[in-house]
Amino acid sequence: MTEKIQKAFVVYCSPAGSTRHVSRIIVKKLQEMEIEVIECDLSKKFSETSIITKINRVKSNACLFVGSPVYVSHAIPPVMNFIARLQKNPHMPVVPFVTWGGATSGIALYEMGKALTKKDMRVVGGAKILARHSMMWQMENPLGENHPDKTGDQMIQKMITGICGKLSDGGNGSIDLSVLSYYPPDIVAEMKKMTLKKAKSHMPKRKVDEDACTECKECSSVCPTDAISFTPYPEFEKNCIFCFNCVKICPEDAIQADFSKVEKRIKDRAELFKETPPSQIFI
Ligand SMILES: Cc1cc2nc3c(=O)[nH]c(=O)nc-3n(C[C@H](O)[C@H](O)[C@H](O)COP(=O)(O)O)c2cc1C
Repeated sequence: MTEKIQKAFVVYCSPAGSTRHVSRIIVKKLQEMEIEVIECDLSKKFSETSIITKINRVKSNACLFVGSPVYVSHAIPPVMNFIARLQKNPHMPVVPFVTWGGATSGIALYEMGKALTKKDMRVVGGAKILARHSMMWQMENPLGENHPDKTGDQMIQKMITGICGKLSDGGNGSIDLSVLSYYPPDIVAEMKKMTLKKAKSHMPKRKVDEDACTECKECSSVCPTDAISFTPYPEFEKNCIFCFNCVKICPEDAIQADFSKVEKRIKDRAELFKETPPSQIFI
């Protein structure tokens, strides 16, 4: 049976923009192939429920792409929560993709693939793409600088052509999920133990300078998880994912965090894992 893709869903969360960049490359390539695309940025309020309804209705000839940055070796909670909310759908081929900041892409891709197969979906491809490390934006030599680059973009385009080709050729198209788990079992076990929640204690603490804060709420407008409340100054709720967009955007520099200890820890991890290749597609 051929399965010519006619419609695609591209769903992602991208606090610092790299995953959005990769998503845009996917969207553009699909549109060039005259495939109808429905795009959803999970950080935009109210968009998630409507896309889930549309995905649940699909019976054939569609494909779902789901993208996340890697945080502490995992996909981020908004993306995993989105996957958890999907209904089982054996008609849906699916492609997880991640951007990572040069330390380790960890088990994010594998965990996304596993969660999607629990929804009876067929994982027909995947990608990990090197990007600038979003926690190193103030540093002189951030890991992943100048990425995603042209090579990453071309890999993504090749992945789309490959996936659409193999599905329309009539194959089932599934990849073996184990290819998405490229670390040895002992390292995987360690990565499983260290979650974003547990890593909270290593994250730079934010301090709000109440004299400088003008209560403009810009910080809240860029928060991907709507985790900032005002009393009247910003306070960070439990669902904060530590993207630090609030620190980056504040026009008064009223939200401060000390990243001086972070650089060494990230670079040590990069040195420890020496992950290669930087970008890779799985088809
Ligand atoms: C809290 C936090 C944790 C991160 N953890 C990792 C990590 O474990 N490994 C890694 O290589 N990059 C890590 N990064 C960097 C991001 O994965 C990378 O910059 C990604 O491309 C960001 O995607 P975005 O631009 O779509 O937000 C982390 C970034 C943040 C803010």
